[in-house]
Amino acid sequence: MTKVIRTPQEFRQWRATVPATQKVGFVPTMGALHRGHETLLQKARQENEILVLSIYVNQTQFNDKKDFEKYPITWEADLKLATDNQVDVVFAPEFASMYPDQYSYKVVETNFSHELCGKDRPGHFDGVLSVVMKLFNIVRPERAYFGEKDYQQLTLIRGMVDAFFLPITIVPVPTVREKDGLAMSSRNVRLSPAEREKAPLIYKILKTAASAAEARASLEAQNWIVDYVTDFGQRRFVAVRVGEVRLIDNVEI
Ligand code: PAJ
Repeated sequence: MTKVIRTPQEFRQWRATVPATQKVGFVPTMGALHRGHETLLQKARQENEILVLSIYVNQTQFNDKKDFEKYPITWEADLKLATDNQVDVVFAPEFASMYPDQYSYKVVETNFSHELCGKDRPGHFDGVLSVVMKLFNIVRPERAYFGEKDYQQLTLIRGMVDAFFLPITIVPVPTVREKDGLAMSSRNVRLSPAEREKAPLIYKILKTAASAAEARASLEAQNWIVDYVTDFGQRRFVAVRVGEVRLIDNVEI
């Protein structure tokens, strides 16, 4: 049976009952769960005795109020997916209990967090790192699972774990895609049918363009606003506005 816990205090009481021999795997999410999240859960289920999923739409990482308000909430379906994947505990807190300090304390990264998505979304990664630090301290997992879909996020969390000597192994999971190549995302449901039909072009263009500049030109030819196409290390990153919906993706180059 999947147990639901609503406050950090209650979670800590439960956590104290888990014997040290039982390793805890943790998948943090904002809900509206899809097959991408499910893949993280399946990997974590295989590798740990205890599986914890968090569902929390973290408002401090939304720089755009409208994006936060429109974030899809599908609690019943999420709980079913959790049960189907043998999640032991769903941690689903609220703002007041997660931010007793009203967000006056933050985890800030001063370098890579200002690149790529950080340029268009000021404060976004402060919110992500701060909430993940809180979640790590509450859940105290041995392993935590993150998708390569949000590669910059994954990189920054790895950096935070190293910088603060957190005793947690970060496990990366490859991007899960729809049959037509579109990276799965909770935001995809906000695309109109016409937008949804064209959206797989993002991945196609990213993979096939000879350069970042060529990819940008092809995306702009679709009348999309391109926030960035940038090669960074061995990867090419993109953020593009398909109508009102901002989608991101990245591929190895
Ligand atoms: P969310 O967007 O719900 O994603 C939760 C986790 O699922 C992240 O690690 C993300 O990279 C992974 N994920 C999402 N779509 C995926 C896909 N198509 N393939 C593989 N993995 C995928 O990322 C967040 O929430 C938040 O920023 C969070 C870390 C929970 C902090 O609030």
